[in-house]
Amino acid sequence: MEWNVIRLDEVDSTNEYAKKLIPDVSEGTVVVAKRQTSGRGRKGRAWASPEGGLWMSVILKPPMIDPRLVFVGALAVSDTLRDFGIGAWIKWPNDVWVGNRKISGVLTEVKGDFVIMGVGLNVNNEIPDGLKETATSMMEALGEPVDIGEVLERLLEYLGRWYKTFLENPPLVVEEVRGRTMLIGKEVRVLLDGNDLVGRVITISDDGSLILDVDGQTVKVVYGDVSVRIN
Ligand code: ATP
Ligand code: BTN
Repeated sequence: MEWNVIRLDEVDSTNEYAKKLIPDVSEGTVVVAKRQTSGRGRKGRAWASPEGGLWMSVILKPPMIDPRLVFVGALAVSDTLRDFGIGAWIKWPNDVWVGNRKISGVLTEVKGDFVIMGVGLNVNNEIPDGLKETATSMMEALGEPVDIGEVLERLLEYLGRWYKTFLENPPLVVEEVRGRTMLIGKEVRVLLDGNDLVGRVITISDDGSLILDVDGQTVKVVYGDVSVRIN
């Protein structure tokens, strides 16, 4: 993949900026900002984006819209972290965690035939007070700041590789996520709109769904606005 990187100092949200470029834009356009004034997670939840972190959105035009695309982002982040000596795991469907703290989140949005893949990765940025218990950064994990340009370079390299694998063979992407998730065998609470589901994770199926054992019954949780908590 040929990436074409647009660099901004400040923006509301790189996902919003990327959306406005569509459809007059080619696949592989990347929007990176030093800080976001209105970074967003799923369901419009706020994403803290002070200077020092990596906040970016990649514009893709896949042949089909597929929820498994979010795994491309999570795998690329986890590979990048590994290159810097940080062991991370993927919290299905869209987070990357280091131990019991979140370091990165992926937000995919669709506009027409395009997918905007937003990736937020805490690199050298401060973690805001309210998130100190639940979030971490590369700097915190390593005890020293890292070269953010190098992080971006690696991340784009891995995004290109995993996107290619996704286009050729999506179950291969899922297989890799399965191997990196740590959720399998764990008791989890899945927060679905209003009604929670408590069960043990059996696996992630090839279509990207989370398969749970809930009181002896097999339940399939499809990717959507679901959050998983480890019980
Ligand atoms: P979770 O299981 O962590 O809630 P989620 O994917 O369901 O993940 P979202 O709905 O995408 O969460 O909302 C973003 C979450 O990330 C919020 O819980 C928010 O507190 C947290 N958050 C916000 N900014 C950051 C950041 N820079 N680093 C880590 N976590 C953050
Ligand atoms: C999550 O909730 O875990 C996903 C967070 C995604 C944050 C990134 S930062 C770059 C892009 N722009 C946004 O406003 N959100 C995504």
